[in-house]
Amino acid sequence: MNQIKACIFDLDGVIVDTAVYHYKAWKRLANELGFDFTEEQNELLKGVSRVRSLEIILNIGGVTKTDAEKEELATRKNTWYVDMIGRMKPDEILPGAKEFVQACRDAGIKTALGSASKNSMTILEKINMVNLFDAIIDGNKVSKAKPDPEVFLKGAEELGVTPADCVVFEDAIAGVEAAINGGMKVVGIGSPTVLTGANLVVSGLSEMSVVKLEEL
Ligand code: BG6
Ligand code: MG
Repeated sequence: MNQIKACIFDLDGVIVDTAVYHYKAWKRLANELGFDFTEEQNELLKGVSRVRSLEIILNIGGVTKTDAEKEELATRKNTWYVDMIGRMKPDEILPGAKEFVQACRDAGIKTALGSASKNSMTILEKINMVNLFDAIIDGNKVSKAKPDPEVFLKGAEELGVTPADCVVFEDAIAGVEAAINGGMKVVGIGSPTVLTGANLVVSGLSEMSVVKLEEL
């Protein structure tokens, strides 16, 4: 039996579904630049940093920009995104997410957030979940994007737990890889055919329990 000491949660796609807001903002930017951006293409951006997301979109549109222009475009998109997440409510928490994080805490398991998003705090405040995490590692605290394990290793370090005693919850392929690269167990949120490297794949945190953690 494994003694799990900490659970580290990705935010977008695990705790909340912000992909729709990212999509609306990126689509608006693409349209302003004169091309379209589909929901299928939006899948390519899951777990990907803001700068890298912009590069993927410019590539789709066949558009070349200077570094200074890219910065301005990413800022423009983020302003629209921040406006949308600023109106988020606690009822946008994905089913079972808050309950499972609380169940971990009740069982003496430490909890951390491990997200690429620089907007993590805004979202956690809007959904009233800031106090449910012992450590919050977001895009402002890391320099290497997933699949680099930096975000999760920093989480483990802040919690004072060794990576082997941690379980990561992730919906993105790059995130699952990051957890594996960090020597952690990983529960995929989504499809088993997509998140092939995970120890277990569930459709959402409503399917999780503390007992299932011990079986990983
Ligand atoms: C990740 C999302 O959590 O955060 C990506 O899955 C997003 O789609 C990335 O690009 C960065 O987010 P932000 O809020 O810093 O632009
Ligand atoms: Mg995610």
